[in-house]
Amino acid sequence: MPQHMATDEALFLSRREWLKAAGLAGIGIAAGTAGLSAMMGRASAAPITGFPATRNDSYVLDRALTAEQEAITYTNFYEFGSSKTIWRKAQKLETDPWMVTIDGMVEEELKIDAAELITKLGSQEERLYRHRCVEAWAMAVPWTGVPFSKLVALARPTSGAKYIRMETFYDPSVAPGQKQSWYPWPYVEGITIEEGMNELALLGTGMYGKGLEKQNGAPLRCVLPWKYGFKGIKSIVKFTFTDQQPVSFWEQLAKNEYGFWANVNPEVAHPRWSQATERMLGSDDRVPTLLYNGYEEQVAGLYAGMGGIGDRLFR
Ligand code: MTE
Repeated sequence: MPQHMATDEALFLSRREWLKAAGLAGIGIAAGTAGLSAMMGRASAAPITGFPATRNDSYVLDRALTAEQEAITYTNFYEFGSSKTIWRKAQKLETDPWMVTIDGMVEEELKIDAAELITKLGSQEERLYRHRCVEAWAMAVPWTGVPFSKLVALARPTSGAKYIRMETFYDPSVAPGQKQSWYPWPYVEGITIEEGMNELALLGTGMYGKGLEKQNGAPLRCVLPWKYGFKGIKSIVKFTFTDQQPVSFWEQLAKNEYGFWANVNPEVAHPRWSQATERMLGSDDRVPTLLYNGYEEQVAGLYAGMGGIGDRLFR
């Protein structure tokens, strides 16, 4: 067996230790990850099901849906590289089982499998949303998910908590981009609890009537259609409720280019990209960008107390 295929010694030892603690060492047990998780009492190793979900018709689009093939082959997932065509590399990510932690300033700390979490949160629905990347490309997608507010309700934040910090997996052996040590891995994003409670915020589980593709952030991602796409963190493993404003992955790298709020605003240019117009994936046509990406009615109230859009994107 080539060296690179051998199990890392630390992992091997910790598995041995666990087996010993469970009284199973020495009986020649040959369980793989799934077998081990079953023995450890995980309720379900099944992937998230329930696709296609019923569409919630309250969310309508003013533009054609992006072709599925475009949306699943043109992706940003820096863990797998900085090009848009990393979808093949992302297939190495094992998304089932997938443990998720909810911790910090909450009544209900939880460590739970993603599929079990979604079952707990209630029925999924489909919503047609616009998506806008700060690089000035855009798409229109049928997402599936559960309202993010249900996760907040499950966690029951304590009175001082104000923000939700979210974190993506960290595993450089699977995600080659994470070997690039100049990036501040793991990918982190954050929102206020109030934003998470907004009706538009979705805990995404699927697209186009199916579970999420790995390159689109399976099994769980955040969908915040009024914000630039980088806020929509993929493949989430941890939700931490906190009183400290989270500092995101991109903010750590370039504070003058990526701020906390990142609400879509056609009038404020990014240092490298004008935000006045956007290119729809699959087309060369540019269309005007809308304030809050067209969701002003649903979200403007969140920022009224700040005197407006809460734009701290580019400084
Ligand atoms: N989440 C993680 N973990 N890693 C990333 O590189 N890219 C972000 C966001 N979430 C990213 C991420 C950016 S810049 C965008 S525009 C969207 O994911 C893209 O989502 P899509 O590739 O599904 O279109």
